[in-house]
Amino acid sequence: MDAPWWQRAVIYQIYPRSFADASGDGIGDLAGIQQHLDHLTWLGVDGLWLSPIYPSPMADFGYDVANYTDVDPLFGTLTDADDLVAAAHRRNLKVLLDWVPNHTSNRHPWFMASRGSRTNPYRDWYLWRDEPNNWRQAFAPTPAWTLDERTGQYYLHLFLPEQPDLNWNNPAVRRAMHDVLRFWLDRDVDGFRADVVHLIGKDPALPDDQPVRSDSRVSFHEDPHTHRWLREIRAVLDGYDGDRAMVGEVNLRDPMAIAPYAGPDQLHMAFDFRLLDAAFDATAFRTAITATDHAARTHGTWPTVVLGNHDQARVLTRYDGREDRARVAAVVLLTVRGTPFLFAGDELGLADAVVPPERRVDPGGRDGCRAPIPWNGRRDHGWNGDDPWLPWPPEPDVRNVAAQRRDPDSMAALYRRLLRRRRDDPALQLGDLDVVGSSPDVLSYERTLGDERRRVVANFSDQAQQVAGAHGWSVLVATRRDHEDRVFDGTIGPCSAVVLGVP
Ligand code: NOJ
Repeated sequence: MDAPWWQRAVIYQIYPRSFADASGDGIGDLAGIQQHLDHLTWLGVDGLWLSPIYPSPMADFGYDVANYTDVDPLFGTLTDADDLVAAAHRRNLKVLLDWVPNHTSNRHPWFMASRGSRTNPYRDWYLWRDEPNNWRQAFAPTPAWTLDERTGQYYLHLFLPEQPDLNWNNPAVRRAMHDVLRFWLDRDVDGFRADVVHLIGKDPALPDDQPVRSDSRVSFHEDPHTHRWLREIRAVLDGYDGDRAMVGEVNLRDPMAIAPYAGPDQLHMAFDFRLLDAAFDATAFRTAITATDHAARTHGTWPTVVLGNHDQARVLTRYDGREDRARVAAVVLLTVRGTPFLFAGDELGLADAVVPPERRVDPGGRDGCRAPIPWNGRRDHGWNGDDPWLPWPPEPDVRNVAAQRRDPDSMAALYRRLLRRRRDDPALQLGDLDVVGSSPDVLSYERTLGDERRRVVANFSDQAQQVAGAHGWSVLVATRRDHEDRVFDGTIGPCSAVVLGVP
């Protein structure tokens, strides 16, 4: 069936500081990633997304970019980036870079010029005002404005003061940011993950937020200008061959609000965090899946599926350390309709590291999920001796790549079976989704493409449950390996899941 690669793909998110360290300084780097690409191939993912690799003062660990067209020396060089892209392509892995369009670092030359004087040609590249409006920054309930003494005006930063917001209403800013995309597209990357891209559109008057909703959404997060800027961005990508793609972080938490940002002339896909936000509960998962599917059908867009990323507590931590639950969720992640994004380390069932106060570094309190990946059971876990920048996640002696690759019953082995199954299974990749039943304990859904039918049955309760209608189907993948290659007898074990095929 004819579908672009990004609809069939499973993307693996790498947080470069924490993935693998070739230089031995305790911070992951591009050469380390390249050395470990075989893990991605072994797992069976189709591409990787790298969190920011650009020169940065690291106030927000790379989401404060000081130069969009180079690589931070901590991570390597531009040549290392080129080598990594080429090495990934030799393995048929796509590469998405993080693009941070809403704000730069306060150390970016554009901002340094902008703050120089009120008449500097770069002044209007950022948002300067005599009086702040009522907007708040993301990491603290304090104003999103900082007074810059030198010129006596306030500048806007929806995140840290070290992350001033760019003024996308200025065509020169838009052109410069398009050139950033071209710089990397010319270097053969397959696309981008666009950071908080829903925020780039702003009413030039910067009016006060008028909270009109009962939830925590704020009006300036949904400014119509964003759609205009996304159409221009899409035209840049469409100017290249090879089906380049952009997935945007549209952090609105509601599929019906998110879907309008994707489509044939805007983002290829927008992140949907409904599953990530859902409690481990059949009804909560069903509600999330149904809402996402409804939004995608209504707007004619292609959904995404996310269980974890570098901003959230890890799946295992959210599920009270229960691997059986994380396994059930993994089955859903890789079989529901949409492109899954898998956060590196979730395939090992890592929990958040316990980070003592003196080692905490992130202003957003997100260190736990960013702990380094343990590659083996040795003392340094494959990190060449240096104590890495954050403590190890719990149980690195067993929750490491080497141990789990050896063990056919491990969490990583389950991910591998699911990924292999999905790769050869167009119904699981592209099929329609139909939720079956409304049990409070068991989530069931079907994926159908032409004559091909799959059924997924996931038992969220701690008791075995009877399931109607799938008796006699064959078990293609199960959270417990010894339940595979059998005929389904209609009973699903406690906290477990199966992928079934028509007999
Ligand atoms: C979303 C990113 O995922 C997060 O890590 C970052 O802090 C903010 N955007 C600001 O760039």
